[in-house]
Amino acid sequence: MRTLGVLTLLSAAVLLCSAAPGLEPLTCRKVNSSVAADKAVHHINEYHDHGYKFRLHEVQGNSVEQVDGGCNVKLQLDLRETKCHTINPKPFEDCEIRSELARAVKANCTVLMTIKDGDANITKYECDTRQEKTNLEMVRICPDCPVLLPLNNSEGLKSVREATAEFNKNTSNQHYYILKEVGRISTGYIMGLGMNYYPEFALVETRCPMGSRIIIEACVPLCPDRARHAFCRSSYSSQNGLLSTECEFYPAENTTALGPGEKEPVCGHHGRRHPHGHGGPPPHAHDHGGGPPPHAHDHGHGSPPPGGKGKGSFHPLRHFHPCHGFLVNPDPALHPICPWPLPHRTQN
Ligand SMILES: *[C@@H]1O[C@H](CO)[C@@H](O)[C@H](O)[C@H]1NC(C)=O
Ligand SMILES: *[C@@H]1O[C@H](CO)[C@@H](O)[C@H](O)[C@H]1NC(C)=O
Ligand SMILES: *[C@@H]1O[C@H](CO)[C@@H](O)[C@H](O)[C@H]1NC(C)=O
Ligand SMILES: *[C@@H]1O[C@H](CO)[C@@H](O)[C@H](O)[C@H]1NC(C)=O
Ligand SMILES: *[C@@H]1O[C@H](CO)[C@@H](O)[C@H](O)[C@H]1NC(C)=O
Ligand SMILES: *[C@@H]1O[C@H](CO)[C@@H](O)[C@H](O)[C@H]1NC(C)=O
Repeated sequence: MRTLGVLTLLSAAVLLCSAAPGLEPLTCRKVNSSVAADKAVHHINEYHDHGYKFRLHEVQGNSVEQVDGGCNVKLQLDLRETKCHTINPKPFEDCEIRSELARAVKANCTVLMTIKDGDANITKYECDTRQEKTNLEMVRICPDCPVLLPLNNSEGLKSVREATAEFNKNTSNQHYYILKEVGRISTGYIMGLGMNYYPEFALVETRCPMGSRIIIEACVPLCPDRARHAFCRSSYSSQNGLLSTECEFYPAENTTALGPGEKEPVCGHHGRRHPHGHGGPPPHAHDHGGGPPPHAHDHGHGSPPPGGKGKGSFHPLRHFHPCHGFLVNPDPALHPICPWPLPHRTQN
């Protein structure tokens, strides 16, 4: 009897371990929509590597269709953008959601999931990412609240360049940093100061030692796992120039010191920083969805494919084509959640 008791306990422990920590496993007999939604939001954040992390606001609907050997689950999820940029190592669950007056962003996602043999897999999702209130609606609620500008707004980007130059005067840094991505740019008119710009942007540490006489913009980033990152908020007035810059630093994932005479590794454009800080990339990180691998990451339009921070990340100023143009009518002021898997591009 005693042996049996131990066995039961052991198998219960094994069952518990096989599910996500703290969550009951998903079965077709009983689809717990909050457990399913949690799995979906983890997946979405794992593949979302521009802009900000998202959190679940509400499960708006779910339906289950029984199929041979399992079931297909469809979820309608309402997500909200958090204040954590994707380079922030904080788990999305711990990130604060933006308030309405701080120009909140919502994503309405349709997620398809398959449950088979006790394994739940996301197979597809599409999201519509929008500002919670349009500029017109906001003006009525709060005429003095900031408005979001398109991410390639010239004056907004000028303020980012000045803030980055200021950042690079900090001699506590070992290396220069360059712009990785502009997260959002808000703006507002202030009496006596003219237009004010409040950009948020991500910087990445480069190979160029602090103090070297070089054109900083030409510096090449350290490999994604060896680079420190910084996330900055600054303010800039069209009349008085840069007013303030505040940054938080995120340590490199790999802080192993190089041996004597060892050079910084060459990582090419395929190095990536895994969003959850585990050793390697997750399976299918460079996969656009089960099909053949994408052609060499030659997209070069400021939006590398999900799961791959390609060369394009470092030229965010030129164009802005989120999700490689696969979205209909995206808001140019936001980093949307891209559909997954991304449809295959047949030609450039
Ligand atoms: C769904 O799962 C959550 C977390 O495991 C639990 O708190 C909740 O009671 C479950 N809901 C149902 C309807 O089983
Ligand atoms: C979310 O998207 C679904 C499917 O496109 C649509 O039916 C639904 O009305 C949308 N919900 C909201 C709140 O916009
Ligand atoms: C679900 O994903 C896991 C790991 O990615 C894989 O091993 C398994 O075969 C998948 N199951 C289904 C039903 O696709
Ligand atoms: C300068 O950089 C260090 C990290 O290298 C940081 O801790 C410090 O806050 C920065 N100082 C300013 C004024 O930004
Ligand atoms: C850290 O970087 C060094 C230098 O490139 C490399 O030899 C080492 O394997 C890396 N460690 C991990 C855990 O990736
Ligand atoms: C911003 O990007 C859009 C789309 O790529 C483009 O049409 C527009 O001209 C760009 N604006 C600026 C100021 O570069």
